[in-house]
Order: sequence, then structure tokens, then C-alpha cells
Amino acid sequence: MTDAIELQREGGLLTLRLNRPDKKNALTRAMYARLADALSEADGDPEINAVLICGSSECFTAGNDIADFLQQPPRDLDSPVFRFMRSLVQCRKPVVAAVAGAAVGIGTTMLLHCDLVYVSRDARLRMPFVNLGLCPEFGSSLILPRLLGQAKAAELLLLGEGFSGEQAAAWGIASAALGDGVATLAKAREAALRFSQLAPEAVQVSKRLMKAPGREQLRQVIEQEGVEFTRRLQSPEAIAALSGFLSKG
Ligand code: COA
Repeated sequence: MTDAIELQREGGLLTLRLNRPDKKNALTRAMYARLADALSEADGDPEINAVLICGSSECFTAGNDIADFLQQPPRDLDSPVFRFMRSLVQCRKPVVAAVAGAAVGIGTTMLLHCDLVYVSRDARLRMPFVNLGLCPEFGSSLILPRLLGQAKAAELLLLGEGFSGEQAAAWGIASAALGDGVATLAKAREAALRFSQLAPEAVQVSKRLMKAPGREQLRQVIEQEGVEFTRRLQSPEAIAALSGFLSKG
């Protein structure tokens, strides 16, 4: 079991902390597996009211571990990354994210499925999938054009442009932008703890109602994106780009 995911229970709150600082919290298969198991257990645990996902006050995550992508690419829906994202998308309990520093690739995509997202103003978010020979994943090709309009979403998904925490809050990707990483983590924890004072069933029914209208379409898009993404991982374009990152040294 990996210790790069720290679990902490505090009353009705489960915190999942990404803790692999030497690699900017890049997510390995073992980390996804741990996140998936912890989220599923939290969802079924009547003592847990909310989940907080965070990194450090310096870095959220550099996204998928690129060496893993080359050595052990996800091949099917049972791979750890799919299990993690499925447990996040389907989680009945509120999920809060705290983002400081870099949030790259799936580090940004996962925020689209969290309920409350707090970011530091100078956080650096980016989905550089095309730049890596890949394509959008886990519903971002559906959610972002709806949220931002086609033209702005295309800057993020077709050019792979980065954006700040301040922009994420202005565009509705984040709930609010805070002054720095420490303030962001504190605000997210405070918000997540508030769910312990609220009626759990009322919160869960409300979340379900908010998510219900687009659920089937989202499921289909995630499936299509998954097929394209896993195919693209084997493409010469992706292999060249991913190998290029690793050989930068
Ligand atoms: N996968 C594997 N290793 C990664 C990684 C990733 N996604 N992101 C960072 N690392 C490693 C670096 O190779 C480096 O390792 P080393 O010290 O053994 O050389 C270490 O983490 C620190 O990264 P570095 O690039 O020096 O930090 P930085 O502060 O200059 O930049 C980022 C941080 C996140 C902006 C930069 O690391 C980056 O762009 N990473 C790639 C992110 C990416 O494309 N992810 C999408 C995958 S779909």
C-alpha cells in the first residue's frame, strides 16, 4: 500500500492528502488505487459526511505520473485511474478540493467533479492533453464547453493553455480563490467540516438532484473519451511527447 496518499479522519470528515513532494504529487497507479478504495469506503461509511482532497500548500498535483503512462498505461475500465474517477463521479457525499500551486492534467479534470473547489489565486491549472498527443478525459470535453463556451474551452483543451486560480474562480471552475496555499487549505477544510453540521441525507439528496440531469450523457462521454485516450496513449505522437518529458532530465 502506498504512503503517498495520507488519510486522516476528523469527525465526519475524511481528508485524502496527496503526498509525493519529490515528484510534485504526480499520481501513480498505486495512488489512484488508494484514492479509489478510500473514496468508495467513505461513500459507504455512515460516519463520514464529506471528503476533502488536497495536496500541500505548495502543490496540488502534476497529474498522471508520466513514467507510469509509458510503462503501465491504463488499458480498461478496471485500471486504477478509471476506478478512482468513477468513485469520484459517483460519490454521493460532498467532495471538497483544495488546490495550491500546480494542478495539471487530471489534477484539473478531477476538480470538475468535486462539489466545492478552493484555489489559491496564483495556482497554475492546465490540461495539456493535446500537447502530450492525448485528448480530454473524464467528461472535460462535455463540461468545459458548457461552462465556459466553446471558444474559451478550446483555448484550454485544444491549445492546452494554462490559467490561474483567480481565473478558475472567475469562470466557475472553482468556488473561490484565496490569497495563498495555507489560506486555501484552511478555507477548504472549514467548508468541508461544515457538512458535519448539516443533515447528511438532505445534503446527499441535494447533490443527487444537482447531478442527475446530465448523468447519462456524462457517462457516455467519459466512456468515449476513455476509448480515445487509451488509444492515443499508444500513438507515436503521445509516446514521443511523453518520452520527451522524461528525457529532459
Ligand atoms: N510525472 C512524472 N514525474 C513528474 C511529473 C509527472 N507528471 N511532473 C513532475 N515530475 C517530476 C519531474 O520529472 C521532476 O523529477 P526529478 O526531480 O527526478 O527530475 C520532479 O517531479 C520535479 O518536477 P519539476 O518539473 O522539476 O518541477 P517544477 O516545479 O519545475 O514544475 C510542473 C512543476 C508540474 C509544472 C512540471 O513538473 C510539469 O509540467 N510536469 C508535467 C505535468 C504534466 O504534463 N502532466 C500531465 C500528465 S497527463
